[in-house]
Amino acid sequence: MKFGYFDDQNREYVIQQPNTPLPWINFLGNEKYFGIISNTAGGYSFYQDARLRRITRYRYNNAPLDVGGRYLYIRDNKAASLGQEDYYWSPSWQPVRKDLDQYQCRHGLGYTTILGKKNDLICEGSYFVPLNQDFEVWRFTLKNQRKQPADLSLYSAVEFCLWDAADDQNNFQRNLSIGEVEVEDGVIYHKTEYRERRNHYSYLACSVPIKGFETQREAFLGPYRGWENPLAVEKGTTENSLAHGWQPIGAHHIRLTLQPGESQEVIFILGYQENSRKKKFSDPESQILNKSEAKSKLKMYLNSDYVVNALSELKEYWDDLLGVYQVNTPDPHIDRMVNLWNQYQVMATFNFSRSASYFESGIGRGMGFRDSNQDLLGFVHLIPERARERILDLAGTQKEDGSAYHQYSPLTKRGNDAVGSDFNDDPLWLVLAVAAYLKETEDWPILDNLVPYDNQPGSEKTLFHHLNASINFTLDRLGPHELPLIGRADWNDCLNLNCYSTEPGQSFQTTTNKGGKTAESVFIAGLFILAANEMVKISKFRKDEISVNRYQKAAEKMELSIWEHGWDGEWFKRAYDDAGAPVGSRSCAEGQIFIEPQGFCIMAGLGLRNGKARMALDSVNERLATEHGIVLQQPAYSKYYLNLGEITSYPPGYKENAGIFCHTNPWIMIAEAMLGEGKKALDYYHLINPSVREEFSDLHKCEPYVYAQMIAGRDAATPGEAKNSWLTGTAAWNFLAISQWILGIRPDYDGLIIDPVIPEEWNGFQAVRKFRNVTYKINVSRIGQGDDLKISIDGKHIRGNIIKRVPRDLSEIEVDVSIGSVT
Ligand code: GLC
Ligand code: GLC
Repeated sequence: MKFGYFDDQNREYVIQQPNTPLPWINFLGNEKYFGIISNTAGGYSFYQDARLRRITRYRYNNAPLDVGGRYLYIRDNKAASLGQEDYYWSPSWQPVRKDLDQYQCRHGLGYTTILGKKNDLICEGSYFVPLNQDFEVWRFTLKNQRKQPADLSLYSAVEFCLWDAADDQNNFQRNLSIGEVEVEDGVIYHKTEYRERRNHYSYLACSVPIKGFETQREAFLGPYRGWENPLAVEKGTTENSLAHGWQPIGAHHIRLTLQPGESQEVIFILGYQENSRKKKFSDPESQILNKSEAKSKLKMYLNSDYVVNALSELKEYWDDLLGVYQVNTPDPHIDRMVNLWNQYQVMATFNFSRSASYFESGIGRGMGFRDSNQDLLGFVHLIPERARERILDLAGTQKEDGSAYHQYSPLTKRGNDAVGSDFNDDPLWLVLAVAAYLKETEDWPILDNLVPYDNQPGSEKTLFHHLNASINFTLDRLGPHELPLIGRADWNDCLNLNCYSTEPGQSFQTTTNKGGKTAESVFIAGLFILAANEMVKISKFRKDEISVNRYQKAAEKMELSIWEHGWDGEWFKRAYDDAGAPVGSRSCAEGQIFIEPQGFCIMAGLGLRNGKARMALDSVNERLATEHGIVLQQPAYSKYYLNLGEITSYPPGYKENAGIFCHTNPWIMIAEAMLGEGKKALDYYHLINPSVREEFSDLHKCEPYVYAQMIAGRDAATPGEAKNSWLTGTAAWNFLAISQWILGIRPDYDGLIIDPVIPEEWNGFQAVRKFRNVTYKINVSRIGQGDDLKISIDGKHIRGNIIKRVPRDLSEIEVDVSIGSVT
């Protein structure tokens, strides 16, 4: 069953009923001011850091679902005075949840539009954050389709968060006494803690004169009431309450009369403002906010022309970004994901890592080191300058011994290990990120950029030094089989081989009670070879023969260790535990084969020539592939194993315990593509492609336009049910698998590789790729069976499959590719 449809032309997903299986969300904002918004206007906003600068409140795991949002109430005053039922409702359905006569939500690129019609009144609201601004706009158009005038009250409502979203949910003995607001000219300013150390406030403003307001939650809702039936809305009044402590909110009351056929626009602006410390107060002797910055913005943006313009600028911005990679293939599911939604999702993962979504509370995870480096792989072609900045930020949190904090705060850019450290794979991902950046941009000077270790002034070394430290970090930590020690865990955060925990509630991500000198990871070994191979190529470009040699030798040696101790006969083993026993081996009772090392060892080039890669992939197909995607391991762990950690804490079929952890599936697609198996790769691609899964949205539950982290595996009670949509490494990796490996348009250090591996039934496809200031118009046509390629540029045949040099004066070239051979 579907709940909506793709409007490919308008680049929107259209939701046609409000009660989707889960809130289907979209992200607002571009660089600093962000929000999440659901299809019923639920969600919240924050500035830069979802924990430290939370602007509005939201309650996860609440009932009913998805409460806390950007709410509007419409009250029909005449109907109320006549004692009619249903005299107030919300045009976004929530929070009132009264049936609407018509409902439609359109999630677009950086904006969401929700239309709700009831009793012949249509209200359409658009929500977005203008480019380069620290506020969001809600623009409503109300139309009276009745034959009589409509006497209406509108109420806006947001609940302010007292800034630190974690503290906001904990420290009530303090929090219930600190809330402060000001109201001036109908603008509600939230200024909790501004009197002391903060120099920022938020505000909610409205484009039309107001009749009243509330800023104290209980005054608006009435005691023991919820957002679905505020007393103020029920009675049609407001008392102009000023919050002193308790729960500050922003709610306006507007009176409107609409003649038959008349429509009116009402704009609200919810914003964040910082003042310089010297100019915090309007008068230095007072405690009154200096509001001048906010006022000058409001003067412009409470005005329709600015708003309309800002929304079209936002659309143009996305048109430009997406113009970097566009394809036209025989498959609509590929086209809409590649051209649009997958690229849009990589922006979100780049911006938020795993910090704030409907599943990530925004208070625990900051920017992951491993995660952000991988997110960058799928993002770098969109805005290379931002990728550059991110690389330097990440490297700046690295420690001198090459190790990495597992995450850092986006606001302070400082690493923190409150939620775990010592993941021995972390440092190596930096090498992959930098390699991808160099391939996209040729910005070789970045390697000589000075970057501190652990943000310590005076510790600056070149970025190349940092990469070298990453490699050394692994080499300095080899175990009994000459394989990398795993540390707390590797990519699989839940394979905690040094944490034997028997205490309920003890965190697997911070507990260590084994020495760490025995447990090894075959996955890190594969990742290491991939990274070392990139270092070989990077060092060649730097004409640094000593490094070339060193990295080459290190990679070769690691490969030998893998073949000797990491190959299980038909697939790669996963690890060795603290007792030196193999994990992911035929000899194990459960968890005999894992997906991760199959993908990574093959991507690192192992077994491509001796048939073992094929053998491993056949084992994956036979043992791990299911109708909903490839599960992480088999057989699922049926009980808790002390030596394995969190992975066995999940019930079988969920998350890392044999769930379809989508992030890993593209590794297998890439491996298949490397072996020339385009059809097999695409078959896997389609299993987890959300657009393909749209047909059974009731089972899948998550949004049909973005990847989810996890789809329940075949051992689960609910196979096929997805969770943790949006913020997952699946976005970046799947974009790589389809765009670079299956469609085969792949940046490399010295040019653009064109190497499609497409199914026999495809006649070909077209693509446009902007790469290093040149637009490549690529036309692939199948002329026979097989994957033989012939490439010509502007009519001239070239040798090989890499386009190295484009004459300087050309900004656009035509690339013709014929695929297959004529028999
Ligand atoms: C989560 C983490 C990621 C980890 C993965 C597998 O998605 O964010 O870092 O690799 O789980 O455990
Ligand atoms: C949980 C999740 C895993 C995540 C880890 C760290 O264990 O299952 O996916 O990586 O937490 O936050």
